[in-house]
Amino acid sequence: MTRSKLSSGNDSGLDVPVIAIDGPGGSGKGTISIRLAKHLGWNFLDSGALYRLTALAVLKNQISLDNEAALGKTAAGLDIRFESTGSGVVARLDGEDVGDCLRLEKTGIIASRIAAIPVVRLALTGRQRHFRQAPGLVADGRDMGTVIFPDAILKIFLTASDECRARRRHKQLKEKGESVNLSRLFREIKARDSRDQSRDISPLRPAEDAVIIDSTDLNLEEVFSKIVKLV
Ligand code: C5P
Repeated sequence: MTRSKLSSGNDSGLDVPVIAIDGPGGSGKGTISIRLAKHLGWNFLDSGALYRLTALAVLKNQISLDNEAALGKTAAGLDIRFESTGSGVVARLDGEDVGDCLRLEKTGIIASRIAAIPVVRLALTGRQRHFRQAPGLVADGRDMGTVIFPDAILKIFLTASDECRARRRHKQLKEKGESVNLSRLFREIKARDSRDQSRDISPLRPAEDAVIIDSTDLNLEEVFSKIVKLV
């Protein structure tokens, strides 16, 4: 499972199976998706990383969040690369390792703001579909099952209570050395959810044929085994 291999791929593989795992931040979908991709020996798409990389490029080039044309141009012209290393995946923007900034909460907030802009989403659509390569793809995001891969063979919508997601996210950020106040994080997560759910284009919502899993009272193993059974 490498994303570096995928970033140079083509999008001809409509017969390549896709499993879409969508849901709000902190639902555990990232961890589950990576694990499922490894388990199946399939490729993995972290679509949120593409929005986060766009956010970093926007910050780097000091583009105003009101300048939609420039935001779209930035998304379309992104020079990004994912490289697999022994310890994980390195994300590069213009050749530079941006791993330290990619997962910051403030990057997520800007990503969510620009993700509501149609030209940005359009610019990233083709890039996401390029990840569809044999033998299969596990795609993690907000609109994988509804917009990017509507023909996915399995669509999961993973969710959890707001409190639970804020706690999980807090733990994750702490482990990465980012100190964030829990109640502030809770408010930010709610604001990000409501922006993601209420935008006109590709709002966060389960596909009609998605299986909804609430992971509030489940541990990682329990969620994983539920999904493996569905696969
Ligand atoms: O999943 P992650 O927190 O990395 O995503 C950052 C932001 O990117 C989300 O809050 C959402 O606004 C946006 N996003 C999106 N569509 C996706 C993946 C992420 O709009 N498929």
